[in-house]
Amino acid sequence: MSAALYTLAAAALLAAGGMLASHQHLATTVHEHPHLAAPVTRLRPRDPNRLLVFVGGLQRSGTTALASALEALPDASGQSFRWLFANLRKEEAEARVDALRRWRGVTRRYLDDVIKSGGLEGKFAQDVYPYAYMLRDWGDSVHAVDRLSLDGAEASPQKAVELWRQWYPYWNQSSAVLVEKTPENFVRGLFLEALFPQNARFVFVLRHPLAWALTIEKWLDNRWNFKKTLYLRDPDDGIDRRIEMWIQLVDKMLADVSSLKQAAIVHAEACSLRPDVIPKSLERIVDGRRVSLAPFKGLARSNLAYVACWLEGGRTDAKAGSLRQDTTAGGVHACVPGAVALRDIARPRARAQLKSYLWGAKANRLRRYGYFVPDFEGALCRDGACAAPSEDEILSDVDVGLDVASIEDRGLLEALGLIEAPTAAPVMN
Ligand SMILES: *[C@@H]1O[C@H](CO)[C@@H](O)[C@H](O)[C@H]1NC(C)=O
Repeated sequence: MSAALYTLAAAALLAAGGMLASHQHLATTVHEHPHLAAPVTRLRPRDPNRLLVFVGGLQRSGTTALASALEALPDASGQSFRWLFANLRKEEAEARVDALRRWRGVTRRYLDDVIKSGGLEGKFAQDVYPYAYMLRDWGDSVHAVDRLSLDGAEASPQKAVELWRQWYPYWNQSSAVLVEKTPENFVRGLFLEALFPQNARFVFVLRHPLAWALTIEKWLDNRWNFKKTLYLRDPDDGIDRRIEMWIQLVDKMLADVSSLKQAAIVHAEACSLRPDVIPKSLERIVDGRRVSLAPFKGLARSNLAYVACWLEGGRTDAKAGSLRQDTTAGGVHACVPGAVALRDIARPRARAQLKSYLWGAKANRLRRYGYFVPDFEGALCRDGACAAPSEDEILSDVDVGLDVASIEDRGLLEALGLIEAPTAAPVMN
């Protein structure tokens, strides 16, 4: 399957999140599906040699790139419908698809499209834990982190057996590394580790909070999510609220990581700018296998394209290109200028918002995660027109607002592979 198709599928599944609201299945008990008898005896989730790598991060942060990088390992596999149909008899695979359709409240026709394109997020193909879609379900932010996260207390052995039974046919069952990408894994690590304590490993990806806040724009106002995302789409406060959302979710993730046994964190921009520098922490997650970070190509530059477009008072639109593209894979995305009257409001507003992140309290909050907001206007705009640097200009950390020297949290530094975890040997600095 081509990378483009994979990306399309992932985008389609995420977009579908919006259609699922009224059918959200809150499974508090494990349901039995007698017609879905699986060869449970052959399933060995606790096989100590098998890695179950959970990928997470806020939507549009590079989760697809990260999952692609891991799935490209020679003995790894991600979940897909292709495997479901290869692993099960046709009737049984069809029954699974029907069950999935009921859980998610989507049409068969819709699912057929998804099946053709191959990709799948694990949260979609299960009814053991509550389905959530962070961008939509953030709501008005009240208790949002609590609503979205799952902790160890919610796990049980029955849930582990059932979730494994539901998920297993979606992988190449011979793979030693099973990759499961669901953005919400970001705040559900404790739950997943409690389910699969021997096998679970975690990799979470961070993207620059301002760039991220801009990349999610068109996902917030698509036709499925439009009504539920008013809070985050507020014309004046939307950007601040999204960055606040980023901070709250990342803080929860970092708190989880401090107690997860095996978790790594990557900065998407570092992966994009230095694809051959594999963080030690990431290498450890996959027991020393060589991960290629090539799928992050283009992400750092696309951050700047989003910012430039925002400063221009326009909106970034992937559909203006030839294909529905995921910019994290280096896709083309056009900046669609707003009408003149709108631009006259949007430009000064964007520039004022940018300034508010250059220094002071807001800037300091971002530094804890290794990010800052550079003077993007000075860097990207000339004579009132703004654009990302061309492909042949080499970008550095400073250009995209990455500065890992400002991180003080030892847990984050360890998870990023920038310092070693304290062992018998003295801690390096
Ligand atoms: C499934 O995984 C096994 C073990 O890693 C590998 O040899 C095989 O080629 C994989 N099958 C496909 C179709 O990728």
